[in-house]
Amino acid sequence: MARSLCTWMFVLIAVFSASCSQQSHGGPAVDPIFLIAGLGTNQDLQLSTSMSRAGVTPLAPAPPQNAALVTLGRALFFDKELSGNRNIACSTCHLRNSGTSDGLSLSIGWGGNGLGAVRTVGTGNFVGRNAPPLFNLGAKITKYFWDGRVSRADNGILTTPEPALNGASPTRADIASQLTTGLAAQAMFPVTSDLEMRGLPGNPVRDAANNQAVWAVLMSRLVGTNNGTVGGLPGYRALFAAAFPTVTNFDNFNFGHAAAAIAAFETESYSAVGSPFEQYVKGNTGALTPEAKAGGILFFGKANCSTCHNGPMLTDNEFHGVASPQILGTSGYLNTGDDTGRNVVTGQPGDMYKFRTPNLHNVELSAPFTHSGAYASLNQVVDHYTNPSNAQLNFSAQGLRPDFAFTADLNFAHKTNRINALDPILRQPLVLSAQEKQSLVAFLMSLTDPQARNLTGSAPASVPSGLSID
Ligand code: HEC
Ligand code: HEC
Repeated sequence: MARSLCTWMFVLIAVFSASCSQQSHGGPAVDPIFLIAGLGTNQDLQLSTSMSRAGVTPLAPAPPQNAALVTLGRALFFDKELSGNRNIACSTCHLRNSGTSDGLSLSIGWGGNGLGAVRTVGTGNFVGRNAPPLFNLGAKITKYFWDGRVSRADNGILTTPEPALNGASPTRADIASQLTTGLAAQAMFPVTSDLEMRGLPGNPVRDAANNQAVWAVLMSRLVGTNNGTVGGLPGYRALFAAAFPTVTNFDNFNFGHAAAAIAAFETESYSAVGSPFEQYVKGNTGALTPEAKAGGILFFGKANCSTCHNGPMLTDNEFHGVASPQILGTSGYLNTGDDTGRNVVTGQPGDMYKFRTPNLHNVELSAPFTHSGAYASLNQVVDHYTNPSNAQLNFSAQGLRPDFAFTADLNFAHKTNRINALDPILRQPLVLSAQEKQSLVAFLMSLTDPQARNLTGSAPASVPSGLSID
């Protein structure tokens, strides 16, 4: 994959191919100044130099996934059988016609009515955060959720909200050993969330004593007990058996197998690496408009965006304070005042109001933006960065659905705390002309793979439970 970047540089010196063969994740593989001088336009020279400094390399396509595993994962992702009251699936909030997000500032869990941007809270709850898109996660993202509460280190050690999965010798090694990617580990947790999928007290998933009991109840729903002779669904027994031929007794399946299958499905179906920007990175200098190139030069240069949004995924996988405004929702576990982000996980004062830098590929498709969906448009996000402190103080919830807008957190002490937690790089106001802001937005829109706009083909025709598909 680094090869195509090299091809673009049109240069044939040995030193060049040697440095290009290393996949850079932070520093430049090669300084293109010396390589394409005189070959591209001045704009291309500037952009390629700054991109290279920011560690941008072509996104690898998704690694091939086992077909039987993907088929099982697809069924699970779209099946409401995974929720306590059988009324919500992963696909209810990660919609295939809404950029794998839901179009809402804050997601709405079980009990909600309708889908996408018109979904209302009904008898359920707001979840407290904005649903992130699912593109290109798999091996490429190391920390999951806005606060990074799920992660998997290169040595395989998991850090999750469930202690039995964590550390070098987890007590539930039978489950942890199935979670070979961070994405698989993530898929263990939507089903354990009271607000997302567990449903009303009185159903066995909600009434289960703890996470491990939730997972056991769900497996008895899917494949049954007593080696599949009691309960379960025949369709799932067939799918699990095909996906894991070495597991010969159904009692030996656990929710880790389900999560691994869901991750395989997400990896294969929600890979979107064909944006104009990606074509440019691979060497097609005509793929970006001059305006998007100008925006890119700002993004990787004067506007400092790539201080945090860097590397192939345009994220440093770290946590930063950007003083984004807070939408509370009228209910939900984080509506006690404000969302302190990474600090919710670590309890560390230094982590107050820090959120994981989101990756930006296909970002245009998953409005509204930020952890609480405070901004309706990319224009507003860019405006925010010109003066985050002022944006925090003067937030007006413009363009948001009224029920979200009226829950904007106007508490002055909270606002001050968020400003105090601002990353140093964002303390200096950034002066951008109207033209420059427009270019930055054009650049952000060049990160959209046209194929990601229509993912209807990712859904199965039906699911083994026979429940309706959202
Ligand atoms: C009620 C809506 C809802 C449902 C149902 C739901 N999600 Fe999500 N999902 C969210 C929200 C909101 C977040 C962000 C939560 C946070 O960061 O605290 C999220 C985060 C994620 C992430 C992390 C992405 C990242 O960049 O870190 C993945 C992956 C994901 N969900 C997959 C799933 C899968 C798989 C299921 C089903 C097992 C599922 N979701 C069910 C709303 C939902
Ligand atoms: C100090 C690190 C940092 C810098 C600098 C930075 N960002 Fe961000 N960016 C973040 C973090 C962290 C978030 C998530 C904030 C939140 O959810 O509250 C974010 C969120 C975003 C989002 C919303 C993405 C989504 O999925 O909701 C966009 C778009 C974005 N940034 C673009 C930019 C642009 C353009 C610049 C430069 C003008 C920039 N960022 C500069 C760290 C940074």
